[in-house]
Amino acid sequence: MTDNQWRHRPAELAALLPAGFTMGVSTSAFQIEGGTQEGGRGVSTWDAFNHQKGRILDGSTADVATDHYHRYPEDVALLRDLGVDSYRFSLSWPRIQPAGRGPANRAGVAFYDRLLDELLAAGIRPMATLYHWDTPIELAGGWLNRDTAYRFAEYTFLAAEAFGDRVDSWITINEPASVTLSGYALGVHAPGETLLFDALPAAHHQLLGHGLAVGALRDAGVTGGVGIANVHSPVEPAGDGEEDAAYAALFDFVHNRIFADPVLLGRYPEVPEPFEELLSVFSEIDPDDLRTIGAPLDFYGLNYYFPTRVAAGAGGSASPDGTAQAMGSLPFHLAEWPEFARSGFGWPVAPEYLGVTLRELRERYGDALPPVVITEGGASYPDAVSTDGSFDDRARIEYLGDHLAAAASAVLAGGVAEGVELRGYHVWSLLDNFEWAAGYSQRFGLVHVDFATQDRTPKASFRWLQRVLESR
Ligand code: FCB
Repeated sequence: MTDNQWRHRPAELAALLPAGFTMGVSTSAFQIEGGTQEGGRGVSTWDAFNHQKGRILDGSTADVATDHYHRYPEDVALLRDLGVDSYRFSLSWPRIQPAGRGPANRAGVAFYDRLLDELLAAGIRPMATLYHWDTPIELAGGWLNRDTAYRFAEYTFLAAEAFGDRVDSWITINEPASVTLSGYALGVHAPGETLLFDALPAAHHQLLGHGLAVGALRDAGVTGGVGIANVHSPVEPAGDGEEDAAYAALFDFVHNRIFADPVLLGRYPEVPEPFEELLSVFSEIDPDDLRTIGAPLDFYGLNYYFPTRVAAGAGGSASPDGTAQAMGSLPFHLAEWPEFARSGFGWPVAPEYLGVTLRELRERYGDALPPVVITEGGASYPDAVSTDGSFDDRARIEYLGDHLAAAASAVLAGGVAEGVELRGYHVWSLLDNFEWAAGYSQRFGLVHVDFATQDRTPKASFRWLQRVLESR
């Protein structure tokens, strides 16, 4: 779809969006804030991890990142100029509760007070994520320890009391699948554990933390809606053989189903054959936990980037965040999709699979699926600098145009995902930022950041999205 030329047709795209559709952009605290030692902030697992040698592709850290902690007024001004309805950001747990327990840290709360007030003054609805991966390091064992779920609920209550009158939408946890798989199974993200299938208790504890946090938000009487942000990647076997099919089902189980089923249906999915022993942890779950995890939500946050093709045996090409390399000891790998273009990360650019993802959500969860908000979608591309010094990121414009069009048409009458109530799309991301294990090597921003000077320059995609938003 790369010849679609959405850049010349912003109004046409705007006309495709459902009435009342929310358009926003998304960021996370650790990736943009910097100021890691200011305002009484505690240390997180990511602070420790990104200072360990060899963990981050370019050897960088997020100590300064985009310096949003100091430059947030400029960033809110960019949001206002862009014209978005909603801004999704995350609260840093160690900024609000430095050791992961105990009372709120006033300076941390004050920072988000200022940010929220600035957003509201700009007419932008705040969507706050409570946990986007920065676990306070003092919580021993992190998510392997069940106690962390209870600490998370206490922290949530503090945040709800402080900000519950102003946040429009709450997200408990961002991508528990990524935390489990990248952080605890493969060790490419903090805390760097390489437990493979023994990492699965970290999934259950995050889900329990999610359920307890939903309860804490409701108890605190927050005025905003409550949801989670799960990353989904539709999975297909690479070939027709039985082995590819079995490993594809296993990957779908550990990446998608165990995070969505308990949240939406109050139960774990049936374990795929022949992996019963490997996944035995799911046969011993306390039914009370499942009741907590399945608490009703106001919306379901979907992060969609790309589909996954799974093949038996070793293989797969190296990825900037080390995922493929870290999967080397597993009996399957993530196969190529040669028919699709690839983003800077090497991810297949496959907008039609966003429709497939929405269709799968509808098929799997039916009426148990609340309204869906796409909480992240976007792509990294190397800078495309024009002769006049501007950033002409046409590839990002096509990516966003194609994905928005695919999502909007999927949910129309007669579309592949008819029946899904799709409420919005948040572009990842406002700014180029610290992309976890890939450091500053992957630029996802609508706004270019010069990391030496912290100068922000809107790219062509920013100007284009501005026109789409104006044309509504
Ligand atoms: C998602 C993360 C987000 C960002 C994008 C590119 O998995 O939630 O923080 O890194 O990928």
